[in-house]
Amino acid sequence: MKTGRFITFEGIDGAGKSTHLDALARRLRERQATVVCTREPGGTPLAERVREIFLHETADVLTETLLAFAARRDHLRSVITPALAAGRTVLCDRFTDATFAYQGGGGGAPLAVLAQLETWVQGGLQPDLTLWFDLPAEIAAQRRAQAREADRFEQRDLDFFERVRGGYAARAAADPQRFARIDASSSRDAVWAQIESVLESRGW
Ligand SMILES: Nc1ncnc2c1ncn2[C@@H]1O[C@H](COP(=O)(O)OP(=O)(O)OP(=O)(O)O)[C@@H](O)[C@H]1O
Ligand SMILES: [Mg+2]
Repeated sequence: MKTGRFITFEGIDGAGKSTHLDALARRLRERQATVVCTREPGGTPLAERVREIFLHETADVLTETLLAFAARRDHLRSVITPALAAGRTVLCDRFTDATFAYQGGGGGAPLAVLAQLETWVQGGLQPDLTLWFDLPAEIAAQRRAQAREADRFEQRDLDFFERVRGGYAARAAADPQRFARIDASSSRDAVWAQIESVLESRGW
């Protein structure tokens, strides 16, 4: 069975994920790949409705976690798994590492619970590559301030985002083959060059 590649984009708010997801989709399409761009929470009508609740309602961290995994389950079944089975490349703006980083690292949800939900919802499915856009929370906050109004996660303080960053660092250390750390504090061109070099090193 042919399967496509599953590439996820991770990092704190304002790290540059969306900017470079679009650029990578263009590059892959130029090389004749069939690319599906999607995001979490979201990517299906049901999961997009969950996203609205997730981003705008106040909830405890376990409720947030369950919402994220409920949306993910629908997204996997309806979009990601069928696309990969058809040989498409899936680019996803955030995935399960974000739940570990935000609800785990940032919010203090027990990692053992997150790991159980991960197995329950995903089975053995993991991204083939995770691009982790890493930068200090302060730089990300400056970029966000220039770009748009904050949602309820983006209003959290720098300390919260440094804990989220630590959550990502722990996930990256636990799965160094899957993760590629991108120094996202550099210029757009320098960030893009790092992404190209990750793809080239994998022969993609
Ligand atoms: N390397 C860079 N240098 C300077 N500014 C950048 C860089 N990369 C992205 N930006 C700008 O920073 C802002 C945030 O970028 P972007 O929206 O891609 O981040 P994001 O990781 O998708 O954030 P979010 O998680 O909130 O969606 C945008 O205004 C973008 O144009
Ligand atoms: Mg974005």
